[in-house]
Amino acid sequence: MKLAYIIAATALLVSVNAEAAGDPAARAGESRVAVKEFFGALKGELVAAIKAGGPVNAIKTCNIEAPAIAASISEKKGWRVARTSLKLRNQNNAPDAWETRVLEYFDKRKAAGDDPTKMEVYQVVDGEFRYMKAIPTAAKPCLACHGEKVPPKVEEALNAMYPDDKARGYKAGDIRGAFTISQPM
Ligand code: HEC
Repeated sequence: MKLAYIIAATALLVSVNAEAAGDPAARAGESRVAVKEFFGALKGELVAAIKAGGPVNAIKTCNIEAPAIAASISEKKGWRVARTSLKLRNQNNAPDAWETRVLEYFDKRKAAGDDPTKMEVYQVVDGEFRYMKAIPTAAKPCLACHGEKVPPKVEEALNAMYPDDKARGYKAGDIRGAFTISQPM
């Protein structure tokens, strides 16, 4: 009788732990929603700023709004939500070792002909749930600031703000980087 009780208690403990860890597929689903929110909000701000004052005006938007939107979603969810890339404009967005591996994996899949709009990876790493989704480069508006030939005024403004900018030279369809999420478990 005593043994049965202990077994039952252990089973309960295991199931509570599994619940706290969450179902990875459910966490990935929540991550997708957060990425959509981030991308939607940033793209809205970006397009509005370009409309109001051209791409030079919108550089400030990316510099200020991208980290602000990321911070507000991170705070709301209790996660770390950010953007990263192998060719950085802002060093604050530098990938860690796991993110670097995933970015390289995305590039490899792109080179093999896979569609970047569908690329995502999720994994539990050192007790954290981690999720990344590739960000393809769209002809509009991305190339105005990340393309092979950016307008001279944009070039001037980017050189002044980001003297170490590596995030130019992209073509439409290239992988610009990725959204990255870490959820504590
Ligand atoms: C008006 C210029 C402009 C346009 C248009 C633009 N970006 Fe950027 N992008 C920037 C700036 C400026 C930064 C650096 C932001 C910062 O300081 O965190 C940046 C950073 C990024 C980063 C973070 C990694 C890094 O290099 O620091 C990604 C990813 C990115 N852009 C993707 C895109 C995509 C995809 C598009 C098209 C939907 C796009 N950008 C359009 C100016 C632009």
